[in-house]
Amino acid sequence: MSMILTIADLKDLARRRVPKMFFDYADSGGWTESTYRANEEDFQKIKFRQRVLVDMSNRSLESTMIGEKVAMPVALAPTGMTGMQHPDGEMLAAQAAEEFGVPFTLSTMSICSIEDVASVTKKPFWFQLYVLRDKDFVLDLIDRAKAAKCSALVLTLDLQILGQRHKDIRNGLSAPPRFTPKHIWQMATRPGWCIGMAGTKRRTFRNIVGHAKGVGDLTSLSSWTTEQFDPHLSWKDVAWIKERWGGKLILKGILDKEDALMAAKTGADAIIVSNHGGRQLDGASSSIAVLEEIADAVGDTIEVHMDGGIRSGQDVLKALCLGAKGTYIGRPFLYGLGALGKDGVTKALEIIRKEMDITLALCGKRLVTDMGKDQLRR
Ligand code: GLV
Repeated sequence: MSMILTIADLKDLARRRVPKMFFDYADSGGWTESTYRANEEDFQKIKFRQRVLVDMSNRSLESTMIGEKVAMPVALAPTGMTGMQHPDGEMLAAQAAEEFGVPFTLSTMSICSIEDVASVTKKPFWFQLYVLRDKDFVLDLIDRAKAAKCSALVLTLDLQILGQRHKDIRNGLSAPPRFTPKHIWQMATRPGWCIGMAGTKRRTFRNIVGHAKGVGDLTSLSSWTTEQFDPHLSWKDVAWIKERWGGKLILKGILDKEDALMAAKTGADAIIVSNHGGRQLDGASSSIAVLEEIADAVGDTIEVHMDGGIRSGQDVLKALCLGAKGTYIGRPFLYGLGALGKDGVTKALEIIRKEMDITLALCGKRLVTDMGKDQLRR
């Protein structure tokens, strides 16, 4: 553990511990994966200004996201099938986030259910909603999130149909996994994972199976989303979802200034500048490349968050400098989870916190909330 110094170290370990089909599910983008790569690469082009002889004492990474106090402005992103990276993955990640003092967002497409996560946490977590054709099921999901005292609803706007990820098709991805020779081999070579999975009852999409009518088998994620996700979703739907929910609402998946302006008019509390981790429209811009333009356009009227490509605390600070009030990490915490379970999620957060703290100091700042465009070399 002491030689795990970067998110890349956690990724290497996760690759050795998680069956290939699930590791690849996290580590994949749409089609050529060009947007997935750009999300990471574009951060590298941004440079800080180094400042010296500034009082560096009493530094703080504390901030707020949608009015909630956070130990650092880095939430755990909603990620599908997290409980397949590690048994009971969502429950463990939520506990790690709670102990660290950052928000955890549970995906609709999670393995552990809203109720599972609520049963092991004390503070409210956030719930991400996909809108399905079955409106009764959607209303029920919203009500379940309310009953679990979730403090924000994160409505995803960019996945009414699933982008094609070649790795998932080649791997024959499913949850629970099929028992073909290929899949048995992938699991048999990861014995720790198998033992853990044998010890939990949470092996399918527990927000959905047993709740949505006529859904027992989600083995083909892509055909299931094609059948069930509502392709008619429009800006008008945001209004009824907002009303039914009645709490803090975050709109996820904005990558264009015009859409950001529309989102700001809905009365939502925040938007997430996001291309779904490069998993949806391959060939779209990286999130960090469009963040500044969007934040400049709507930052005065709605809180702006971002995700996509963050692999270090430096990336978080760059996003804050360009106008984000908060950020999300998906793959970094999944790699931590796959590598070392709950401790790995904590480790991912600690790595990011340390990188943020040292960078803040060397940029000549004491408060993370003071980071702005002036701290970048342009
Ligand atoms: C689900 O959100 C996915 O990107 O697979």
